[in-house]
Parts: sequence; structure tokens; C-alpha cells
Amino acid sequence: MKADPTIRPHSLRRATADDADVVSSLGARTFTETFAHLYPPEDLETFLAYAYGLERTRNDLAHPDKATWLLEDEDGEAIGYALAGPCELPHEAARSEDGELKRIYVLKSHQGGGRGSMLLNAALDWLEKDGPRPLWIGVFSENFGAQKLYGRMGFEKVGEYHFKVGETRDLEFILRRG
Ligand SMILES: CC(C)(COP(=O)(O)OP(=O)(O)OC[C@H]1O[C@@H](n2cnc3c(N)ncnc32)[C@H](O)[C@@H]1OP(=O)(O)O)[C@@H](O)C(=O)NCCC(=O)NCCS
Repeated sequence: MKADPTIRPHSLRRATADDADVVSSLGARTFTETFAHLYPPEDLETFLAYAYGLERTRNDLAHPDKATWLLEDEDGEAIGYALAGPCELPHEAARSEDGELKRIYVLKSHQGGGRGSMLLNAALDWLEKDGPRPLWIGVFSENFGAQKLYGRMGFEKVGEYHFKVGETRDLEFILRRG
């Protein structure tokens, strides 16, 4: 990971209920930037409305066992975010008391400067704030960049499942640490 001297610690903060619009639109934008090419437009549209809609975002922000972080540039514009909470991945060893990194995205224009690692560290530290516990991540099987990052943080592949985007089913890897 490259250290970027322009990244200042105060640009990373926990999102609050007031950030629902920002998190929702950044979520849809970054998912589209990353994965839109994989899906027919109607599948993408259905998925974005469900997964990144305001209602779901508000519920995540209000959830006592979930946390969202926003990374902002020097003008206060959101350029990345992460979402963590109880594990919901379909693996026989996964328990709801375990933690899960559910989402982590940095705008394409801002990737590769250590920002993703900053978000990841904040989320993993928070997930283990009461001590070490098993942590889980689901990642697209062909997302080699993210897999490299997670591998470096100690995550290993322990399973697979299919993730539904509209009518499309993606092969996802299930990773665990601890
Ligand atoms: C994954 C992501 C959050 C990482 O953010 P980032 O700011 O690019 O990450 P960093 O600059 O901290 O990079 C850390 C490491 O991640 C790995 N990595 C991340 N993306 C990579 C890519 N596209 N290609 C190769 N390595 C990549 C590398 O190991 C990198 O370290 P290195 O530069 O020393 O090789 C960001 O690339 C992103 O938003 N990607 C699209 C969305 C996504 O895939 N999210 C994960 C869904 S599970």
C-alpha cells in the first residue's frame, strides 16, 4: 500500500443518520463504477434500488450493531465509505456474534492511495473493539484487487456462495479471519 501524505486523519469519520443521502448515492455510484459491466441494465437497476435505496441506508445507519464510515476529501466531498456489522454470510461456521465487513468502496478517481486501507482498518478495529473475534467478508470471485487487500489483512477463503443481483447470480468467495 502506498502512503499518501495528503490523507489526513480527520477526513475519516463515522456516518450519522444525517448522512443517509450521501451514503446512499455514493453507494450506488461506486457499485455502478465497479460492477455495472457485469449485469443487464434491468438487473442493475433493481439491485441499486433495493441495496442502495434510502430506506435501507437509513436502517443501516440507525442499526445499533452496524457502523458506517465516510472518507471525505479536503472540500468535504465523500469519496469512499465502509459498512460493518454482524455477520450475515451463508456459511455453516458463521455466527451472528461474528463481525462482517459488508461494504468498502472508494471512488475510482481516488483509489490506490491508501484510502481503502484506511477505511478497512477503521472497520476492522471497530469490529474488534471488544476483543478479537471471527471476522468475515464476502467478495466477488473475480475481484482480485480487493482479495489481495483482504489477504494482506489476514483473511483467508473458507467458502463460496452465489450473490443475487437482479436475476444474475455472482460467484462470491467467503473470507474469514480468526
Ligand atoms: C478495494 C478498494 C476499497 C481499495 O481501496 P484503495 O484506496 O484502492 O486501496 P489502497 O490504496 O489502500 O490499496 C491497498 C491494496 O489493495 C490492493 N488493491 C486494491 N485494489 C486493487 C486493484 N484494482 N488492483 C490491484 N491491487 C489492488 C493492493 O494490494 C493495494 O496495495 P498495493 O497498492 O501496495 O499493491 C478500492 O479499490 C475499491 O473501492 N474498489 C472497488 C470496489 C471494491 O472492489 N470493493 C470491495 C468489494 S468486496
